[in-house]
Amino acid sequence: MAKYKIAWLEGDGVGKDISEATMIVLKAVNLDAEYIPGDIGWEFWIKEGNPLPQRTIDLMKSTDCAFFGAITSKPKKEAEKELSPALKEKGFSYRSPIVLMRQLLDLYICLRPCKAYPGNPLNFKDGIDLVIFRENTEDLYSGVEFSKLSEEMLKIKGMEKVPKDAAVSLKINTKKGCERIIRAAFEFARKNKRKKVTSVQKANVIRITDGLFLETAKEISKEYPEIAFDSANIDAMCMWLLKNPFDYDVLVAPNLYGDIISDLAAQLVGGLGFGCSGNIGDNYAVFEPSHGSAPKYAGQYKVNPIASILAAKMMMYWLGEIELAKQVESAVAQVIKEGETRTYDMGGNDSTLDMANAVAKKIHSEIKK
Ligand code: IPM
Ligand code: MG
Repeated sequence: MAKYKIAWLEGDGVGKDISEATMIVLKAVNLDAEYIPGDIGWEFWIKEGNPLPQRTIDLMKSTDCAFFGAITSKPKKEAEKELSPALKEKGFSYRSPIVLMRQLLDLYICLRPCKAYPGNPLNFKDGIDLVIFRENTEDLYSGVEFSKLSEEMLKIKGMEKVPKDAAVSLKINTKKGCERIIRAAFEFARKNKRKKVTSVQKANVIRITDGLFLETAKEISKEYPEIAFDSANIDAMCMWLLKNPFDYDVLVAPNLYGDIISDLAAQLVGGLGFGCSGNIGDNYAVFEPSHGSAPKYAGQYKVNPIASILAAKMMMYWLGEIELAKQVESAVAQVIKEGETRTYDMGGNDSTLDMANAVAKKIHSEIKK
């Protein structure tokens, strides 16, 4: 029996291309795992009215962790337009399956390392090495939204001036939610000898929820005197990340701001072809590239699989297979540095699988040494 059981959720679009590429690398390091395929994505929304079927959630609950490729996610109205009349009648309503998965499995940490590997022609500046801790279960992603308001709601203090037909999405942040993501960021900084944690929010305007986040960060920072602490507003942070990326180290933010800065930071180190992501809870985790499913490239084996391969590297770290994770990262770094294999985003003509095979080849040659 294999040591690990991994739910293998390829998804749709280029999810399948990059999953195939990632499997080449997992086989090259010989991770002792059984990979169990699971259904997720657009196809299941169209066929069943549910892009994350219950059987997939059950599968995840019976495995150690999951690898997730990519899926198409669309605004509710657009998604529901594409549903067959028979399913529409049953009243299925669309929500992004990845967001649902994070909430159902309480994967409260979204860990997004953004490192500029030397030799990557897409690096904004060499040497950038940021780690983002994004809260992953609450905030404006809570899914509590209204397209019209009841009389009862309008009686709540402060709501008197809100028009009845206002669209409302609630930003819900709890003390526990703030604490656990901020603590995770500081613990990571301590363990990895990082120098600074920056809390990102907009507490000067969003006083209550972002105020809670900032105050909690200040409190927790006192428990880590060896780590510098500062905070920044999300808007200024976007500017400063471009201006002085070397001033930052570990960043921690509520869900939506974390989503925004993690795309920005990924672009600093080569774009979405390099952004990897771990959705991590206390007992389960899902690893994925941060990019979407790029349907126009589906099946063309064109996109860069490095984000996905680095997500698999994170998965091995999380499983405790540190040596294997290091082998993968070092092989990726060497392939980037040598620059002989490059996908289109890097200015080359090599395919998704060429890139994966180049990484696998490096792993084999290191093992032989
Ligand atoms: C991400 C993505 C998702 C998010 C989308 C696809 C729902 O942008 O993982 O960053 O907003 O979290
Ligand atoms: Mg995003």
